[in-house]
Amino acid sequence: MNDIYILGIESSCDDTSAAVIKNDLLLSNVIANQEIHQKYGGVVPELASRAHQQNIIPVVHEALTRAGITKDDLNAVAFTRGPGLMGSLLVGTSFAKGLALSLQIPMIDVNHLQAHVLAHFIRQNETDAHQPEFPFLCLLVSGGNSQIILVEAPDKMKVIGQTIDDAAGEAFDKCAKVMGLPYPGGPVIDRLAKEGNPDAFKFSKPQIAGYNYSFSGLKTSFLYLLKNRLKEDAQFIDAHKNDLCASLQATIIDILMNKLRKAADDLNINQVAIAGGVSANSALRKAFIDYGEKHFRKIYIPPFSFTTDNAAMVAITGYFKYLKKEFCPLDATAFARVEI
Ligand code: KG4
Repeated sequence: MNDIYILGIESSCDDTSAAVIKNDLLLSNVIANQEIHQKYGGVVPELASRAHQQNIIPVVHEALTRAGITKDDLNAVAFTRGPGLMGSLLVGTSFAKGLALSLQIPMIDVNHLQAHVLAHFIRQNETDAHQPEFPFLCLLVSGGNSQIILVEAPDKMKVIGQTIDDAAGEAFDKCAKVMGLPYPGGPVIDRLAKEGNPDAFKFSKPQIAGYNYSFSGLKTSFLYLLKNRLKEDAQFIDAHKNDLCASLQATIIDILMNKLRKAADDLNINQVAIAGGVSANSALRKAFIDYGEKHFRKIYIPPFSFTTDNAAMVAITGYFKYLKKEFCPLDATAFARVEI
């Protein structure tokens, strides 16, 4: 079979990204972050879509150049159709339509959540052979999602557990905000926690049946601890920042790993993966490695560049769909909300 070249486009939130894949081998993955949101303490949708409009052409151009191909070599354009911010998604969707139409090549719509999971199948070089086999479990943890997914095939994923309120990334970001840390708080907490004691403070953990998660109780428990301690000592946060970060992080990881461990045991699945922005967390990665060793599971941890939003994962998902000729019509619209 001839080689298949696919351009992936990701614009679901605040990263504009384009990637080129040759079959399952990654040739380029370009990401333009939007720093403008930092001063607002969160993503401002209107500013995000404007920045996507500015970034999309240079980012695609750079991805093609780094891949060493031209647009005429492409077999298909894959794009994130949802879930995400509507204004942001529309930039990628419209661009994909224009390019597919002008090149007369198929367009492939990609579910952003599936793409995070399928990032594990990207080969970064010819000798890269660390891909999961089906079935496997994937813990998808990001700013908007905390899910345990049973992955039976690229197009057969079943959510067996998910958060009933906040996502793990939201818990990191919101707790960081109340400590006065910059957005996004997850990476900052990760860094400060390295110097702190994870046992310094205890926070409430949810008691929910099955494989579902909840993080709103932890957030409240964190907030109340700060409120109470600040009454006695106005410098409490500054004086205990590292310990607060380490204890919060340890609690989030404990909650995540307990359910994942239970799901793998109950379903007798010996391959387990993590994905999504929070999978960049150094302590979660370590806990995951320890878990694999202690419980004899084969584990899959994405390279850092595939943890947060990126187009490489969109391109690989596009490749799987291309093999099955699952193309989408040119009048496809974006979806702000869509299940896996
Ligand atoms: O997957 P992602 O880039 O965006 C979506 O939510 O779709 O995930 C972003 C989330 C944010 O909540 C951010 O704080 C969190 O991932 N995050 C981290 C780390 N890096 C990113 N959380 C904890 N530790 C990190 N090192």
